[in-house]
Amino acid sequence: MSVASTNLAILGLQWGDEGKGKVVDLLSPKFHQVVRFQGGNNAGHTVVVDGVSIALHQVPSGALHPGCFLVVGNGVVLNLEVFQQELDRLKARGFDLTGRLLLSEKAHIILPHHIALDQWREIRADKVGSKIGTTGRGIGPAYEMKAARMGVRLGDLRYPEALVDRIRPGYDEVRLRLGPDAGLPALETIIEGLLRTAEPFLKFIGDAQGHLMASWKRGESILFEGAQATLLDIDHGTYPFVTSSNCSLGGLFTGTGLPPKAVDSILGIAKAYTTRVGAGPFPAELLDATGDHLREVGREFGTTTGRPRRCGWFDAPITAHACRTNGVDGLAIMKLDVMDNMDQVGLIVGYRTGEGTLTSKLPSCAGDWKDLRAEVKYFKGWGITRGVTDRNKLPKEAQAYLDVLTQSVEVPISYLSTGPDRHEGCVYPGTLLEPLLG
Ligand code: GDP
Ligand code: IMO
Ligand code: MG
Repeated sequence: MSVASTNLAILGLQWGDEGKGKVVDLLSPKFHQVVRFQGGNNAGHTVVVDGVSIALHQVPSGALHPGCFLVVGNGVVLNLEVFQQELDRLKARGFDLTGRLLLSEKAHIILPHHIALDQWREIRADKVGSKIGTTGRGIGPAYEMKAARMGVRLGDLRYPEALVDRIRPGYDEVRLRLGPDAGLPALETIIEGLLRTAEPFLKFIGDAQGHLMASWKRGESILFEGAQATLLDIDHGTYPFVTSSNCSLGGLFTGTGLPPKAVDSILGIAKAYTTRVGAGPFPAELLDATGDHLREVGREFGTTTGRPRRCGWFDAPITAHACRTNGVDGLAIMKLDVMDNMDQVGLIVGYRTGEGTLTSKLPSCAGDWKDLRAEVKYFKGWGITRGVTDRNKLPKEAQAYLDVLTQSVEVPISYLSTGPDRHEGCVYPGTLLEPLLG
């Protein structure tokens, strides 16, 4: 089988759940290395093979291809208990990762008190109406501890006797905040649990940066798998309603230790419509039967938490912002089939301000989103696109919709997904992915 000669980054362009897992699974056989570089088990990447779906949270989505080496970079925060469950589920389905998995010794560990703090905050915030709607997996506190220099890294597991001093400062701060009645496990219990859970992982921990650098120098191909998406990026997303990592391109470099030259091209992933889970600005949101329809047909319920996803039309300004932020070379447009058989479909071309001016500029502050109203352009609906594998066989109405979508973000489509399974989609000739999938 031919392999890629260049390194490719896969990044989400909306608020997550665009279908990154499907695309990474599809492309993985063409790459030597598949790398996660940020996020943790807040991610849920679903891969569907012959109608059977597998959800991956921290294991890179190249797992189902025995020829792929899987790397978890230093920018990831890991819940080792959940990681073990993922490995067990994969093993039960015949996928053994022994000998093809490397976890960065610089990646940080999510600990029980991080999870407790995340959930405690969300409960308190709910009472005053400032809830973010996190996944409750301790992601924010784990990154906070990292920035506060109180984090615990996988490499620290090699020095068990030093763990108590490493963990105590962060643990004590959380305890102070939550109070003695919060039911936090004792520090010793946390350390015992960590050492027990970590034992099977010790053989996988190593120098991921050095491994990737050497692989790159040997001329092997590397696929970078983004988690979350640009609008959830802590700097470039809809702050404060974001996650705690850089999910756009910058996070790839800090999260692996590779330089910008190591990335040859960038594939942006977007749904043909928009969804978001959790709180925060979402001008595209349809709080009506059309939104319910997209949710039901698209099965828009979170892979990680099972929460219903908020649904709306494709939002060109946010997706164009994500394309610019990441320097996207080509688009994978996913789930077009979910919009099949609708009388009409909409696309958000801009926002109307309180004064009535039309703008496509994204506000930087949460407060500035409040007065913006989505300006929707409507298109005639189409019949069926589900399972279409040749773009020339798309209904002309779907084609017209995609033409405007492409113009609105100024990036060409390279792959169009028309169903969850591997074979359901079209590769566009003469574009980024043709040499790999064509
Ligand atoms: P990710 O987080 O970006 O990997 O996306 P998720 O896996 O959380 O959510 C995407 C969902 O859409 C998954 O259940 C996929 O199996 C499914 N999916 C992906 N592509 C398509 C498609 O083209 N059509 C349909 N109907 N479902 C798709
Ligand atoms: P994938 O990789 C969709 C959202 C949460 C919440 C916010 C902060 O599957 O696309 P966090 O737990 O990260 O502190 O929550 O970010 N969120 C996601 N939404 N897909 C994801 O990942 C997400 N990861 C986090 O819902 O609004
Ligand atoms: Mg997901």
